Amino acid sequence: MSSAPAVPVSSDPAPIRLLERYPLREHNTFGFDVHARLACRIESEGQLLAAIRDPRVAGLAPFVLGGGSNVVLTRDVDALVLLIALRGRRVVREDDDAVYVEAAAGENWHEFVAWTLAQGLPGLENLALIPGTVGAAPIQNIGAYGLEMCERFASLRAIELATGEAVELDAAACRFGYRDSFFKREGRERFVITSVTFRLPKAWTPRANYADIARELAARGIDSASGAAVPAQAIFDAVVAVRRAKLPDPLELGNAGSFFKNPVIDAAQFAALKAREPEVVSYPQADGSAKLAAGWLIDRCGWKGRALGAAAVHERQALVLVNRGGASGADVLELADAIRADVLARFGVELEAEPVCR
Ligand code: EPU
Repeated sequence: MSSAPAVPVSSDPAPIRLLERYPLREHNTFGFDVHARLACRIESEGQLLAAIRDPRVAGLAPFVLGGGSNVVLTRDVDALVLLIALRGRRVVREDDDAVYVEAAAGENWHEFVAWTLAQGLPGLENLALIPGTVGAAPIQNIGAYGLEMCERFASLRAIELATGEAVELDAAACRFGYRDSFFKREGRERFVITSVTFRLPKAWTPRANYADIARELAARGIDSASGAAVPAQAIFDAVVAVRRAKLPDPLELGNAGSFFKNPVIDAAQFAALKAREPEVVSYPQADGSAKLAAGWLIDRCGWKGRALGAAAVHERQALVLVNRGGASGADVLELADAIRADVLARFGVELEAEPVCR
């Protein structure tokens, strides 16, 4: 199976409230001060169908916002903004190898991860403290500290906007890649994810070899190299500590996490670059290509901590662009363009933005 029809959406009438010229400042983690032409809070699939079929929104495209942590809103959104607030999480089933847990799209990602650990279910701890919602996690296949979400993904439920039909998509149908999926390409703006089911293997093994995490564990007296089992909660705590030390809290300083993907270049280009820049930080890929640390490239171009107006490069992690207060999406894109041009001129490498620009 790759994609299959799912249990249909209940046909019970669901009342909705359409909000005109709705402020989105608190619905995007950059804190850009833009408005939605219309917005609707969605707490059930029934409300979702009612909203997209309402005659008052005819001709207006829907636009989904979860936590707003991976989007650059450059202007007012001339759309029906669906504020996804579907809640609920549960253990759905288990088999000999794994436990399956499901969470509704509007659940906060970090709270969901903490909840799985509280249920005694390890497997998602490396992804602690990633901002955003459960429904946004598959769209860019969130990843951190040696784990990508797709490794724990079982399936998701989504509503196709054109038909209002519910579908069930498995990992193959989602076509996950590095910070990428079907939903950023062919499926873009065609579906609303309503819930995600994760497969947490019973034969869990800790993943604590990422340098920052191993160092943080060592500082807490836990030796991750000895082969001894590191508790999932200790990894969770270490990830939280490392992220707090390096990455700005969007509630204090607007940002969308890494602004660029780590670029992948082929073996020949890498060999030439390495000869010129022996210190370049890189991760070899299975096919001989190399993934470069974009943060290092940007840092080397002297951008760390620099600003263009109120849009700035974070002082502790050059991969993160921040809104120091009052910046617009256009300001951040202008800064991103200047960075991209410098990295291209110095290293011959193209940087690709990670968040969706709108
Ligand atoms: N580096 C610098 N200067 C900087 C930033 C980084 O020299 O300003 C160097 C570091 O010293 C290190 C290397 O670049 O040698 C990589 O840095 P780091 O380990 O911090 O990770 P990253 O490649 O910058 C990626 C993800 C993060 C994720 C971390 C940890 C991407 C685009 N980013 O960052 O994800 O948390 O690895 O796994 O893949 C996100 O997607 O929003 C995000 C924060």
